[in-house]
Amino acid sequence: MQTDLRNRDLIGDLDFSKEEVETVLDVAWDLKRKRALGEPHPYLRDKVLAMLFFFSSTRTRGSFEAGMAQLGGHAAFIESRTTQISHGDTEKELGEIFGRYFDGIAIRHVDWGIGNRYINLVAEAARVPVFNMQCEIYHPFQCLADLMTIMEKKGRDLRGKKMVVSWAYASSYLKPISVPQSLILQMPRFGLDVVLAHPPEFNLMPDIVEQAKEQARKYKTGFEIISDPNGMEEAFKDADIIYAKSWGPLLTTQDPEEGKRIQDQYKHWITDARKMALAKDDAIYMHPLPADRDIEVTSEVMDGPHSVVFDEAENRLHVQKAVMALTMR
Ligand code: CP
Repeated sequence: MQTDLRNRDLIGDLDFSKEEVETVLDVAWDLKRKRALGEPHPYLRDKVLAMLFFFSSTRTRGSFEAGMAQLGGHAAFIESRTTQISHGDTEKELGEIFGRYFDGIAIRHVDWGIGNRYINLVAEAARVPVFNMQCEIYHPFQCLADLMTIMEKKGRDLRGKKMVVSWAYASSYLKPISVPQSLILQMPRFGLDVVLAHPPEFNLMPDIVEQAKEQARKYKTGFEIISDPNGMEEAFKDADIIYAKSWGPLLTTQDPEEGKRIQDQYKHWITDARKMALAKDDAIYMHPLPADRDIEVTSEVMDGPHSVVFDEAENRLHVQKAVMALTMR
């Protein structure tokens, strides 16, 4: 167990070693138990986290804010449009100045080709830990909550279990590709055999896929890609974990209208009871939320016995508290 994570950033999924992720999960389970028992755990008394949002959020904002309060500190909610960022405050100013006011800086910035660079530049200038609350490449805290949930449902030894990371159709907007990218990077380290399924226009970033394959080789797990207009059913067969969510065809086009035209060809990529029946009887259904109900996934599945989506959302709170307690003390 590696326990010295003081002052560490978490921006990409592989920033923490496997052993460090195990420490995070261990602390997260302890904090979850303490909260269940009503035991106070003010490890970050008088500490303050800046939460800078360039994009909307329900779970991320709620869980970071509640988490800091439960740790005895405070979280400041800051929307970029209410700051002087558009009037000249650069990443350097943000990192330098917020690093002097706050004990940690968390940022959500999902703009294509901009968000990840922005977060890294703030981190370079900041003297405190910087956390990625989602960029266009990674969503590391979501992925840690997903891993915690999978271990709670399927046991700590995940070797030999099949996890499907599948594209699904959505009509609301072109969603970022960060969740599937984080999943394929992190899950091989914990023994899961990953099957990535999507229509041909929905490729993930080639360098991320290469890194995921490298992790799979290193940890001797399976890694398969099904890139086929009708590949969803094939992917679901005999799966232990179904993680099916939408993302935009952002490697093909960043034009929202063109993206929607492409996306609209694949309305049959919905997670429904018929497809879930192809997976193992005790398979779990996961989604980071928000989901387009009855478009991306049927309500029957989302509210049904296979679904773990609300436990998954709860675990955001526990893993984030663990990372903050370990890095910001
Ligand atoms: N899953 C997730 O990050 O949810 P929000 O976008 O609501 O924060």
